Amino acid sequence: MAMRINVQSFAFVLLAVLCGGAAALLAACQPPPHRAAAPPQPLSPATLNHLFQPLPEWEAPPAPPERIQLGRMLFYDLRLSITQQMSCNTCHLLQNYGVDGLPTALSHKGRSGPRNTPTVYNAALQNAQFWDGRARSVEEQAGHPLLAESEMGMPAADDVEKTLRSIPGYNTAFAAAFPGQSPPLTFQNVALAIAAFERGLLTPSRFDRYLAGDLSQLTPEELQGLQSFLDAGCASCHNGVGLGGTLASPAALALLTEPATRSAQNLAVIKIPSLRNVTKTAPYFHNGTVATLEEAVAQMAPQQAPLSPQAIAQIVAFLGTLTGELPADYIAMPTLPEDGPETASFAQTPPP
Ligand code: HEC
Ligand code: HEC
Repeated sequence: MAMRINVQSFAFVLLAVLCGGAAALLAACQPPPHRAAAPPQPLSPATLNHLFQPLPEWEAPPAPPERIQLGRMLFYDLRLSITQQMSCNTCHLLQNYGVDGLPTALSHKGRSGPRNTPTVYNAALQNAQFWDGRARSVEEQAGHPLLAESEMGMPAADDVEKTLRSIPGYNTAFAAAFPGQSPPLTFQNVALAIAAFERGLLTPSRFDRYLAGDLSQLTPEELQGLQSFLDAGCASCHNGVGLGGTLASPAALALLTEPATRSAQNLAVIKIPSLRNVTKTAPYFHNGTVATLEEAVAQMAPQQAPLSPQAIAQIVAFLGTLTGELPADYIAMPTLPEDGPETASFAQTPPP
């Protein structure tokens, strides 16, 4: 640190000497405005831009507001499940960084499923959804949980439509969200509305402001952590705008350390999870077997080059800069439309 400051002041003196008197040059020789010390070259935002792209400051997604509002209602509505007691928000708690905090999710029957609940925040940035990437976009993904036995357990798309049509407020809301379509209330449009809402579940963080050029956003320890993250090869998989969110090739998977590979070997392919908000989404890995971030980071290091406890602590500090602010107004629970006279008859009693 002290070294760098000295070099800078020396350069300054030099500049002052060179500038001496030459009026035409004066403008070019103005001292730079006061700012945080420049980070070492490989960590300067300009050189990082080929690895990571920043999320811009939060703004509402481009879809029509009626569609987003409908998606928000559907995301929170318990009536979309067979028991009428489970919504997307039951597992992807929006106030809790989009996760349930459990090793693996509990189904509508209260049974533990096979996989850990990934966060819905920033999922729209990924080009692979689910731990095995079986959907590409949030639009393609959003219909699955409604019909999954391990999740909301609706028998068929028809049943979802029937329930929603029995709720007068939803008939109006779908007509407003999908104008000109007949009928507007379809299973496909349920998924599209939810996805339109999910596209606003973005959490820009301090790292984004750093990438955008504000050097004061990262502390020296966090910068050390970023350096260790790069040195350990983490960015060969955890890169892009999500620092993950693409499928890992089998060749890439083979590079993982033994414990992580072992945990992943029941999947033919596996999504590289996004590391945004990772400090808030314990437990870790697709099966939720690792409780702490320190342990998850340790298991990710190549076997032949294990990370020192200090490097692990620094990487964990860096990962903290990926924790964003939740868009509080955007995720506020809306008033849901009231049951119609027929809605109760669609309420299905959970199987024993
Ligand atoms: C019972 C808990 C549960 C409910 C309810 C639930 N999910 Fe999920 N969600 C999960 C689990 C577990 C996974 C991972 C499943 C897998 O990989 O096979 C997942 C995966 C996802 C993903 C992929 C994210 C990623 O990074 O791969 C998205 C997006 C998502 N869910 C959105 C939704 C939406 C929208 C709803 C409501 C329509 C919903 N979920 C309902 C538990 C749940
Ligand atoms: C070869 C690609 C690859 C490399 C390199 C890699 N990871 Fe991962 N990372 C993955 C995959 C795949 C998973 C999911 C593993 C699983 O669920 O079983 C993962 C999971 C994680 C998780 C858990 C996230 C969660 O939500 O469960 C963290 C934290 C993590 N990696 C950090 C790192 C760090 C730090 C490094 C560098 C030391 C690193 N990774 C290097 C592919 C990679």
